[in-house]
Amino acid sequence: MDRLLIRGGVPLGGEVRVSGAKNAALPLMCAALLTRQPLRLSNVPHLRDVTTMLSLLTRMGVEVSVDDKLGVELCAEDLVNPEAPYDLVRTMRASILVLGPLLARYGRARVSLPGGCAIGQRPVDQHLKGLQALGAKIDVEQGYIIAEARRLKGARLVADLVTVTGTENLMMAACLAEGTSVIENAAREPEVVDLAACLNAMGARIKGAGTDVLTIEGVTELAGTAHRIMSDRIETGTYLVAAAVTGGSVTLRGADPGTLDSVIGKLREAGATITAKEDTISLEMRGRPASVNVRTAPYPAFPTDMQAQLMALDAIAEGTGVITESIFENRFMHALELARLGADIETNGNTAVVRGVRRLQGASVMATDLRASASLVVAGLAAEGETLVDRIYHLDRGYEAIEEKLSKLGARIRRVH
Ligand code: UD1
Repeated sequence: MDRLLIRGGVPLGGEVRVSGAKNAALPLMCAALLTRQPLRLSNVPHLRDVTTMLSLLTRMGVEVSVDDKLGVELCAEDLVNPEAPYDLVRTMRASILVLGPLLARYGRARVSLPGGCAIGQRPVDQHLKGLQALGAKIDVEQGYIIAEARRLKGARLVADLVTVTGTENLMMAACLAEGTSVIENAAREPEVVDLAACLNAMGARIKGAGTDVLTIEGVTELAGTAHRIMSDRIETGTYLVAAAVTGGSVTLRGADPGTLDSVIGKLREAGATITAKEDTISLEMRGRPASVNVRTAPYPAFPTDMQAQLMALDAIAEGTGVITESIFENRFMHALELARLGADIETNGNTAVVRGVRRLQGASVMATDLRASASLVVAGLAAEGETLVDRIYHLDRGYEAIEEKLSKLGARIRRVH
């Protein structure tokens, strides 16, 4: 199993390019199921979750080709098997995103329930409730969601809570429904907006993307298109925090500063100087960061996917920071690992009190989920001596070429087998 060996204490410096967003790429790939024509995606990140989604779609009969610039063309002309098996859904919860498109275009789907995962329960009740409201018949048998519908019918859908993939699943399903659907309490995440833009280019009629009310006028069929995937705001945020904790100065190209207001705001509060231009963000940090309080919430508030990295910053900051996680109930596993590096963190329910220490000390730590792993890398970059991060397959799910990008910024980091 691969591990990352980091010799910390080097201020990051230089330039690096941000990849396409994982959380936009996955739903966009599923959108290919909605049409017989090819969907061409560019700026596709080279990640394990993307490969998993490609194998899932290929197993269903989608034809996939990859060009020399790593663009991906997906063609779902004939589908052989509208099923997402447990072995794939288990490793990647976003597989649930095939459910809405399959049901809308083929009238049936068999998708494994995702089950629990390391960061909490994460049920899919909102996805199912919404599809039922659109007229689907849904049964759960032996761990599988069995969904059927003749043609979905437009309806008013009110989500009990803000769910990103839930909104995306229902939005995709509603595109091919008969009549108009309204999704209230919809997620406003930029990835939802990116998906809506692609769907509209395919002929869908979606209004309101980026607000909490989506209105979708159903059409009978969608066409293929070409779409460039938005840049990854969480990857961007992670490199910004890495630069801040090492007292570095970096420039990130291919970024989208407009999607990062809350993260940039917190980093400025911590003392960083940040300049954002159209698709470039630069950060400079002099001296030790000041600790910040953070509360995660749906977009445009502070993203839960940046919570662990911010905790690593608070761990070495001057002062005490309070971090409140309001999206997932069990997302502080990194706190114990950060403590192995010398961080002073007290967790109580969904709140963590982080008393900043002047220096972390390198140690062996274990990655428990994707963003927790990122926080350990960030902390390792700031720590004195060597940090060995184990189980980095989590990182490979969501960070393209992380050790190469960090090395380019001057970090002493290498993968050990
Ligand atoms: C997406 C992101 C993930 C991010 C999360 C929150 C993708 C592929 N993943 O995950 O990186 O951390 O948004 O920003 O885009 N919930 C229910 N019932 C449902 C659906 C969700 O109770 O049917 C709850 C979840 O347990 C969680 C909260 O709603 O507590 C938000 O989850 P959700 O937005 O659905 O997360 P994902 O879409 O899975």
